[in-house]
Amino acid sequence: MKINLFSKINCPECKSKLEIKEEKMKNNEIFEGKIICSKCKEEYEIRNYIPRFVKKENYSESWGDLWGKTGNTLRDSDTGDTFYYDTIFGKWSEENVGKKGYSPFGFEWEKDLKGEKILEIGPGLGVCTEHLVKTNSEILSVDMSNAIDAFPEKLLTNRNLNVIQADINSGILKEEQFDKIWMFQVLQHTPSPPDTLKNLYKLLNKGGEISFTSYSVSHHPYRFITKKLSFKSIYNLLEVLLPIKYRLQKIFKDMKMPGISKLVHIMSHPIDPRNLYFDTIEGNRSDWLTGKLYKKTKDKKQLFWFSVVNTFDAITPEYVNSANHEQIKKWTENAGYREINIWGKSGVRVKAKK
Ligand SMILES: C[S@@+](CC[C@H](N)C(=O)[O-])C[C@H]1O[C@@H](n2cnc3c(N)ncnc32)[C@H](O)[C@@H]1O
Ligand SMILES: [Zn+2]
Repeated sequence: MKINLFSKINCPECKSKLEIKEEKMKNNEIFEGKIICSKCKEEYEIRNYIPRFVKKENYSESWGDLWGKTGNTLRDSDTGDTFYYDTIFGKWSEENVGKKGYSPFGFEWEKDLKGEKILEIGPGLGVCTEHLVKTNSEILSVDMSNAIDAFPEKLLTNRNLNVIQADINSGILKEEQFDKIWMFQVLQHTPSPPDTLKNLYKLLNKGGEISFTSYSVSHHPYRFITKKLSFKSIYNLLEVLLPIKYRLQKIFKDMKMPGISKLVHIMSHPIDPRNLYFDTIEGNRSDWLTGKLYKKTKDKKQLFWFSVVNTFDAITPEYVNSANHEQIKKWTENAGYREINIWGKSGVRVKAKK
């Protein structure tokens, strides 16, 4: 934690000034210690460079569980791909997926954002953060789950980055301080997306811009059961069931019965709901991240790992408040934003200004 963090946050309980109470330094920043509210005297822990403003149990914990175990498998710097880089800076195209410079998201951000203040919400393990820190801007990343503990030390100690563990809707951030908000694959997982959009509006400077995505559909009606599953139990289940699912799909595919093969997938939907494992091995995903990696590595163990991560990501979140383009446009308008730009086929991507 850098000391300049105090200019951006206040006590989530009473909105008063926060102060440092105890501090232990490492790499020129606060590594461990305590923060105290000057008024209500509530105390918050700083652990592994990160101030913690959440209760131990929160609705976002399934991600903490996930990222803690997936570690470094997804960042561009580990895969050698440009998937997240192109998400932020690339051009939108859902036809040229996998082509350098294009992305199914394609937010076309400027690469040099010198002097700008950026808020990143729900960074997970920092897949976008590692690119945002290279834009010459000042960044605050906020995630409420222990996912944040998967940030590598080198990323955490970037001189222009502060990271906190907090709920974005808790009122911890001071208003009117950011030029840009980056919120990738998070909105639908908050309890009320319209309220989240309203809260974020207050945080932007006048003329500031928000960029976010949302799922447009959610077809996991069984989530009320599966959201109780731990990462370990999903891992164990898939270890047995995924090879069976693959073999069945493959038998029908080889018998030239693609319809039945597809039916097997639909019937076994909670197991690898995006059909990542089958499609990747069968070469149907050659443009997507897993396809590109598998082509290079032929590593079935890594692919299995990605499928477990994907399954966990799809079937365990507490909230999946998806909405279509029209609905999200309405929410964005109602929250006060203008110049709303919405695009995307396989989901909703939005840029809007205050
Ligand atoms: C689907 S993950 C996306 C992570 C990352 N952006 C990515 O694309 O890999 C959603 C993330 O949002 C975080 N999150 C959900 N609700 C939040 C909230 N109210 N405040 C802060 N973070 C939140 C979760 O903890 C999780 O890390
Ligand atoms: Zn207080």
